Formats: sequence, structure tokens, C-alpha cells
Amino acid sequence: MLFQQFLRVLGATSVLTAGANASDYDGFNTSALIPFVDVDSAIPFTDYQLVNFWFSSDISSTNYTPFVDTGSTGMVISAIDIPEWNLSEASCYPSGWEYLSSSKRLYTGNWIPKDVYFNLEDPDHEVIHSQVPVLCVTSVTICNGTTKYNSTVNEGSCPTDPDGYLPPVTEYPTGIRIMGVGFDRQGDGMPQGTPDKNPFLNVVRIGGTLEDFWPGYIITKEGVTIGLTEENMEGMEYVWLPMIDSTTPRNPFDWGAIPACMSVDGATCSVGTALLDTGLSNSYITLPSNASVSLSPNSTLLVSGSDVKIDFGVALDEFVVGENVTEGVTPTKVSVALNDARVPFVNTGRHVYRAWEVAFDAPLGRVGFRPVS
Ligand SMILES: *[C@@H]1O[C@H](CO)[C@@H](O)[C@H](O)[C@H]1NC(C)=O
Ligand SMILES: *[C@@H]1O[C@H](CO)[C@@H](O)[C@H](O)[C@H]1NC(C)=O
Ligand SMILES: *[C@@H]1O[C@H](CO)[C@@H](O)[C@H](O)[C@H]1NC(C)=O
Ligand SMILES: *[C@@H]1O[C@H](CO)[C@@H](O)[C@H](O)[C@H]1NC(C)=O
Ligand SMILES: *[C@@H]1O[C@H](CO)[C@@H](O)[C@H](O)[C@H]1NC(C)=O
Ligand SMILES: *[C@@H]1O[C@H](CO)[C@@H](O)[C@H](O)[C@H]1NC(C)=O
Ligand SMILES: *[C@@H]1O[C@H](CO)[C@@H](O)[C@H](O)[C@H]1NC(C)=O
Repeated sequence: MLFQQFLRVLGATSVLTAGANASDYDGFNTSALIPFVDVDSAIPFTDYQLVNFWFSSDISSTNYTPFVDTGSTGMVISAIDIPEWNLSEASCYPSGWEYLSSSKRLYTGNWIPKDVYFNLEDPDHEVIHSQVPVLCVTSVTICNGTTKYNSTVNEGSCPTDPDGYLPPVTEYPTGIRIMGVGFDRQGDGMPQGTPDKNPFLNVVRIGGTLEDFWPGYIITKEGVTIGLTEENMEGMEYVWLPMIDSTTPRNPFDWGAIPACMSVDGATCSVGTALLDTGLSNSYITLPSNASVSLSPNSTLLVSGSDVKIDFGVALDEFVVGENVTEGVTPTKVSVALNDARVPFVNTGRHVYRAWEVAFDAPLGRVGFRPVS
């Protein structure tokens, strides 16, 4: 059925209360893989996971190779690298910005509606055509002053420090290629990072059709599979996502972060949320101030040998800091902040995908975990 019909069925029959099993996808069979470029399938998820795309169905048009980033939402591409970009056309569209807290980079530009094509002239994978506004970046600033960037107050510019320092703005930067496909990122410097910006959800065609298409995607070492089906969701165990009051009216694909309970060195776990971020190889954890953790001198880094456990209920991400970083789920390093003002939080980094295949079901608001086989 078409997705519009599907939404009506969803409204009419309360599929939301149905049991969590693969047969929810019965009859949905449209999907295609977007393979990662240059993937090392023996030890995947070491570096950025790249995919190819084009802004035209013409294979001779410019090819872009961004990294897939579940830690942001929205495509962020250098305007100067897009041959058809010009200022007069760009200024017809909403100006916007996104701030990526892990790199402190603030990107500004215009959200220009674009056609996005994957798998052009790839005999093994069907062409996927999406339509999303893309942030065509005309400036970037690293907000590296002493005053912390706050998206509510600072919006599209870095804060000025008390001593007058304002980080330098780089106009028309080249080489910026981010494919933000995450959820629940509006609260972290990306208020414009709403689901309508996600190229993996706003699909209009897969191989010439959109019949029997269930919006969502699965991240595995091979790449990202677009479209959930009974077959490709086999064996998934689900975690339901909370609804958030982030956009008005709410986009039906808008969901809160993954609930998780995290602990260090065998303490009682703290209930909070998790971000399974393909954009990082390291990890960040925020715990209550009474948590007992051992940090390296003059740093926020957990000492080697610390035992970290992140429990998703249906899946467990557990590692010893410093052990098996190259092949296992252990992040390259783990920073801890103790802060009672924040809900406990963990950004696992991308090594978690070495043990778990993870699906995002956008209409139902749930994440599926399946062990890597
Ligand atoms: C999906 O199922 C429908 C109905 O059974 C069938 O007509 C269609 O060819 C199938 N599509 C794919 C991609 O297998
Ligand atoms: C700007 O780009 C648009 C879309 O590609 C194009 O239609 C228009 O002619 C261009 N304008 C100029 C001044 O180059
Ligand atoms: C901030 O980054 C800029 C480059 O964007 C650099 O020139 C400057 O020295 C940095 N300032 C601080 C305080 O680190
Ligand atoms: C950002 O600023 C707003 C408005 O002043 C404030 O309510 C909010 O707590 C600030 N956020 C952070 C993380 O400091
Ligand atoms: C830390 O404080 C919380 C309440 O804020 C409490 O539930 C928890 O048991 C305490 N943990 C430890 C290790 O004392
Ligand atoms: C830690 O910082 C203090 C104060 O800045 C300094 O005196 C000390 O040498 C530092 N220790 C290490 C191990 O770097
Ligand atoms: C390292 O991680 C891999 C992948 O998860 C696992 O198969 C292997 O047993 C781990 N090795 C050690 C020494 O823990």
C-alpha cells in the first residue's frame, strides 16, 4: 500500500499497540541497500561510513560522498561545491544553520529543496530517489571561545566571549559533506534538524515504485538498507521511543532518544538516553554527580580498565575501556561528565555497530536491535 494509505490504517486500527514482531511488516517488501563506500567488512565502523549520492538522476552530474551521521539530522553540503548553486536562487529559500556539538562547528547557509539520488548506475542496487531541503553551506565557524554555544540564544553565530573574542568565520568553505540521518537531534544545536530533512525517510521512489514501502532504515556493516520489510527485520528486538513535543505540528516521524540504563564499574545503572552515533569513534557519558568513576589525571577520560555497561533492555553494549578498541565495541576513548542538571546520557560512538545491527522504524517510533551474525 502507499504510505498515505498506511498512515490512515495506522490511525484507524491502532497498530501502535500491536505486538513487537516482524509480521508488523507483512506485505511491505520495497527496500534497497545503499552500500558504504570502501567498507572494510572484516573490521567495519572504524572510520566514517561514506555513501555516494547525486543531486540529479544524470550519472554525469556531480557525485558527492558524505559520511552517514546518526548524530545529526539533515544534509549539510558546501554550497561552493554544488555547480548549480547561486546566491540569487539560494536566497529564495529559508536561511538556516546547524551546530555539531562534538566538533563545535556551526554551519550556516540556506535550506534548498533538492532531489537526492543513490545507487545511480549500480547494477546490484536499485536507485533510491529522495526529496529533502539540503543545508547548502556558505559559512562555517568553530565556536572555540570560552563561552559555550547555546542554540536558543546564539542561533546562527558563535557567542562572543566576555573579553570580546569572536571566533573567525570562514566564508564559502569547500569539502563539507554530512548526511545527517539521526532522530531527536533538535535539542542539541539543531532545532532545524526535523525529520523532513532526513534523506533516508523522505523517499519518493525505490527502483520506480513506492508501493509497499515502510519508512525506516537498517544500519549494518554493508551499508544502510532503506525500507523495512518482513524479511529484512527478521530477528529484530524492539525498544520503543518516547514521543517528544519538538515540532508543531508534530512530524509523524519525530521521536525522542533511545532509553538506556548506563553504569561504570558495576554501579547501579542510571536511567537516561543513548545516541548510537556513526559520526564518532569515541564516547561521551553524562552521569549523576554521585557516580563513582576513575578518571585519568587532569582529564575527563575514564581510565583504562573501567567497565562500562549500557543496557537497552533488548541489547547490551558492554566493554572495558582500552581493551579491543580496534575490533570490538570499545570506543577509542570515553569522556565522562558528572552533572545532576542533565538526564543521564551516553553517546556510544560508532563501534557499537560492530556488534549490533540497528533499525529505525520511523512511523511506529521504535528501534530494532539484532546481533551481528
Ligand atoms: C511486493 O509484493 C507485491 C504483492 O505481493 C508484488 O506485486 C510486488 O512485486 C512485490 N515487490 C517486490 C519488490 O518484491
Ligand atoms: C541560479 O540557479 C538556478 C537553479 O539552478 C537557475 O535557474 C538560475 O538561472 C541561476 N541564476 C543565475 C543568475 O545563474
Ligand atoms: C579557534 O579556531 C580558529 C580557527 O577556526 C583559530 O584560528 C583560533 O586560534 C582558535 N582559537 C582558540 C581560542 O582556540
Ligand atoms: C540556553 O539558553 C536558554 C535561554 O536563555 C536557557 O533556557 C537554556 O537553559 C540554555 N541552555 C543551556 C544548555 O545552557
Ligand atoms: C545517586 O543518587 C541517586 C538519586 O539522585 C540515587 O538514586 C542513587 O542510588 C545514588 N547512587 C549512588 C551510587 O549513591
Ligand atoms: C594537573 O594540573 C595541575 C594544575 O594545572 C598541574 O599542577 C599538574 O601538574 C597536572 N598533572 C598532570 C599529571 O598533568
Ligand atoms: C574483540 O571484539 C570482537 C568483536 O566484538 C570479539 O569477537 C572478540 O572476541 C573480542 N576480543 C577480545 C579479546 O575481547
